Formats: sequence, structure tokens, C-alpha cells
Amino acid sequence: MLDNNHRSINYLRLSVTDRCNLRCIYCMPEEGIQFLPHDEILSYEEMLHVVRLCVQSGIRKVRLTGGEPLVRKGILSFIEKLCRTEGLEEISLTTNGVLLKDMARDLKRCGICRINISMDSLKEEKFSKITRRDFYREVWEGIDEAQRVGFSPIKLNVVAMKGVNDDEILDFARLTLKKPYHVRFIEMMPVGEKNAWTSDTFLSTREILGKIRSLGSLKPVGTGPLDGPAQRYILEGALGEIGLIGALSHHFCETCNRLRLTADGHLRGCLFSDRERDIKTPLRENKGDDCALDIIRETIMNKPKDHGMNVNKPKKCVRSMNSIGG
Ligand code: GTP
Ligand code: 5AD
Ligand code: SF4
Repeated sequence: MLDNNHRSINYLRLSVTDRCNLRCIYCMPEEGIQFLPHDEILSYEEMLHVVRLCVQSGIRKVRLTGGEPLVRKGILSFIEKLCRTEGLEEISLTTNGVLLKDMARDLKRCGICRINISMDSLKEEKFSKITRRDFYREVWEGIDEAQRVGFSPIKLNVVAMKGVNDDEILDFARLTLKKPYHVRFIEMMPVGEKNAWTSDTFLSTREILGKIRSLGSLKPVGTGPLDGPAQRYILEGALGEIGLIGALSHHFCETCNRLRLTADGHLRGCLFSDRERDIKTPLRENKGDDCALDIIRETIMNKPKDHGMNVNKPKKCVRSMNSIGG
């Protein structure tokens, strides 16, 4: 389905929980987080229902996000059912990797197509500082296992921060010479009222690309219709790829194909816009599929044209990243 700005909306990001076993500095505060009460979270049945209606409205791809999707009880049998949804062409997962080692094989068996994993430092101590937890080894074991069971490509998400991990940009880029990973550098985004975003730690994709060019020639890679917002490159002789997600400075809003469903059943047209529609209440009040379809179509039609931000004009939306799912 096309929105009011002629964009084809075919990709749903589904946040299955706002809970997480890490506390990444760019996502959540260390303490005082109010997680959603259990009965406000959509049940798996409700999520499957909304997904089926989204498919009727043109969605072809679903990405599961969180919080951390793998911490929710019963996630595997939910994924199994989700993968049987008629009309869905691709179901993928974004995870922090902590629980991946034991789950990778089952995720593959259930039908997950691709996995993206957060990995912000190649140094154990710094990883712990960024995530505020000590799971560096577990995450690497998870990445290895995901590769072993046949996930490809494996994308590693690196949120780039000045003074935190900017000294590792080249090491991450070099990793693609030896491993088939798609390493994606992401500009830190000011999402959530308690977000730690400041212009001092902000590192633009332009600056990152400048650093990486010192490693050799970069060949641009084209993108397909279901692809995400990354600008992609390959270093000469590399097994993997480098991606740049200029969430703030590079405006990919023009080609944005996404809709979001929060764990508590609100549909959002844009990551940064607080405008959202409650689809859970009408479903629970048995208002019928037509009413829910109207809500989905209205959210798509009125998807904001762009986020209207830049580095000098950051705007923090109310919800935090872990309850929207990135
Ligand atoms: P694929 O392209 O399908 O692999 O997924 P993706 O890169 O969109 O998903 P992932 O969950 O790995 O997200 C990577 C980063 O991109 C995260 O920081 C997301 O918050 C960010 N991101 C994803 N979609 C959007 C978007 O629509 N707008 C903005 N600004 N950032 C996004
Ligand atoms: N800015 C940019 N990326 C973020 N993520 C979480 N919070 C932020 C933020 N403030 C990323 C994580 C994860 C993905 C879902 O979103 O790296 O991989
Ligand atoms: Fe958890 Fe992801 Fe937020 Fe990190 S970014 S605290 S892994 S939800």
C-alpha cells in the first residue's frame, strides 16, 4: 500500500517486548525503568492477528525487535506460527545475541531468514561499559553459532559514539576482510526522553566513511526494494560488507518503507514521531477486523513525510528505544 508521499509500505517492525537483559547506554537508563505491565503487552495471538491484517494492507516483511525479543517466554513457538503466515516473504530478527547460542538452530528451523546482532565494541571491557552487563563472550558465541547453522548474511550493528568506540571504526571495518559479516555503523539517535544523546558524542556517517576510506577503495553496493536504510560498501578483497546508517544526517525518509508495532499494541508511522494509534484496545473490545484495518491504513496513509531532525535540531520522542524496537 502507498502512503500519502507515494512510498510503498511493505515492512513491519514488530517489538515483542520492551524488556531486555542488557542496558545499552544509547537505549536505556541504568535504573528506574518502568517496564510495561504484563497485561498491556500484546499476547502472541493478538500479534499474529495484527500481522495478518498488516499483510492484507501490503506488508511483506516482518522484523522482530524488542527490547530483546529472545527474552520473551514462548518466542520460538510464536515465531514458528508467524513464519506460517500466508503472504509474508521474509521474517528476520534483531537481537543483542546474549541468548543466541542456544537458540540459533531453532530460529533457523522455525524459518527466520536473517539475523542482525548488536555489537558495539571488539574489546570486552568496553563492551561491558556500553551494555552495562558482562556478556561479551556469550554474544560472540551466539554470532559463531548463528553462522554455523547457516544464517547469512549476519549483520552486526555498531552504534558509533565519539569518545566511546570511535577508536574501533577501522578494526570493525577490517573485520569484514576476514569474516562475511555486514558491519553497519549507526548514527546514535535521540530517541526517548531519558536518552543519553548529546552532540558531543554524535559521530556522523560522513566522518565514519572518511576514516574507512583510509583502508582502501570502497565499492558501493546497490539495494533492493525490501532493503533497509543502510548505504552499503565493500572493501577490496573483503568477505563481508560495510553499511552506514545515517539515521540523523542522511535523510532516507524519502524511501522509508516501514511501519512499527510497539509491544503494547500501538502502531507508529515513524520511529521519531509520537503520533501513534492504539490497535490493541479495539481488538480487545471486539470492534472487528474492519476497524483494525482502518487503523492500519490510516497509520500508513498519514506516515510522517520525514523526521525533521538534524544534529543541530535533535528532538527526543517520548517513548524509549526499547519500547519501539529501533
Ligand atoms: P534490514 O535492513 O532488514 O537488515 O534491517 P535494519 O537495518 O533496518 O534493522 P535493524 O533492526 O538492525 O536496525 C539497524 C538500525 O537502523 C537501528 O539503529 C535502527 O534503529 C535503525 N533503523 C531501522 N529502521 C529505521 C528507520 O526507519 N528510521 C531510522 N531513523 N532508523 C532506523
Ligand atoms: N541510536 C541508534 N541505534 C540504536 N539502537 C538502539 N538504540 C539506538 C540509538 N539511540 C540500535 C541497536 C540495535 C537496534 C535495534 O537499534 O544497536 O541493534
Ligand atoms: Fe537491550 Fe537493544 Fe536496548 Fe541494548 S539497545 S538495552 S540490547 S533493547
